[in-house]
Amino acid sequence: MNIRNKLVAVLTATTVLGFVLGFPPKYGPCKVKCRTLGLRKCFRICRIATGDSIAFPCWKNCSVSINGPNAANDLSGCIQQCRVGKTCDLASNKTRLLKILKEKEPLEGPLFAKDGNLYIVLYTAGEIRRVDLENKQTIPFVNLSVDGFNGMPLGLQNGPGNNIWVTDMRLGLLKVKQNGSFEQVATKDNQNEPLQGLNDLTFDYHGNLWITAPYGPIAPQNFTDSEKPIVI
Ligand SMILES: *[C@@H]1O[C@H](CO)[C@@H](O)[C@H](O)[C@H]1NC(C)=O
Ligand SMILES: *[C@@H]1O[C@H](CO)[C@@H](O)[C@H](O)[C@H]1NC(C)=O
Ligand SMILES: *[C@@H]1O[C@H](CO)[C@@H](O)[C@H](O)[C@H]1NC(C)=O
Ligand SMILES: *[C@@H]1O[C@H](CO)[C@@H](O)[C@H](O)[C@H]1NC(C)=O
Ligand SMILES: *[C@@H]1O[C@H](CO)[C@@H](O)[C@H](O)[C@H]1NC(C)=O
Repeated sequence: MNIRNKLVAVLTATTVLGFVLGFPPKYGPCKVKCRTLGLRKCFRICRIATGDSIAFPCWKNCSVSINGPNAANDLSGCIQQCRVGKTCDLASNKTRLLKILKEKEPLEGPLFAKDGNLYIVLYTAGEIRRVDLENKQTIPFVNLSVDGFNGMPLGLQNGPGNNIWVTDMRLGLLKVKQNGSFEQVATKDNQNEPLQGLNDLTFDYHGNLWITAPYGPIAPQNFTDSEKPIVI
């Protein structure tokens, strides 16, 4: 056993012993700060509950200016403030990322519309849904279908009025009202050719709408990829 292995063995033994004897774990960056400040009883100040961990960005921000007579209390305060528990939801706070939806189908085109709600599309189902952020679920909003052809919406954008503008792979350009009724705005290009299937859209500062059209002609034509993508 070389020195490094011995050290690992001793550390492992100490950790296991500590666990068996019920020594609570401590937060490393706190111990460093605590010692740097010349405080005593750092093992107590920097104690964390078993199963908890500390969100480092939070810790860094919280502890950066700690100094002076209240330092010990302030350090403990930061430990409390920045602790994250064992469950998935809490652990995700460590990265400040929170999973909101667990839909199995692919999602596209997230948009906060003018009514303040978040909307997303499930393009394989041809659906636009409203997201209930509070309860982390989706609410059916509109199913796109024209003359028996189901839509495959890919992009959403706020446009003039309270309408949501939709680029659709199969149905072209659509406009959805707040009550969920919709209409096809464009199905032909300026050469009077069937519009190519659409992907994304954006309004510029002058109010012009720009769309990408990377697919073949829209329904009733069968779906194909475009041979020459165009932007109109
Ligand atoms: C950083 O800490 C200050 C006060 O200590 C607080 O007001 C601020 O919200 C914190 N910022 C972050 C990103 O946590
Ligand atoms: C995790 O983040 C959510 C949303 O910001 C918050 O409500 C919750 O209190 C956080 N949990 C912990 C343990 O910090
Ligand atoms: C769209 O269709 C799905 C399933 O086919 C259904 O669950 C949903 O309620 C429909 N949405 C609307 C707005 O009718
Ligand atoms: C939605 O509102 C429009 C007017 O903005 C109206 O013409 C249409 O009938 C309404 N549709 C439904 C389903 O309520
Ligand atoms: C679409 O494909 C089916 C099956 O290949 C074919 O029978 C039909 O004629 C096609 N429709 C069009 C509009 O090309």
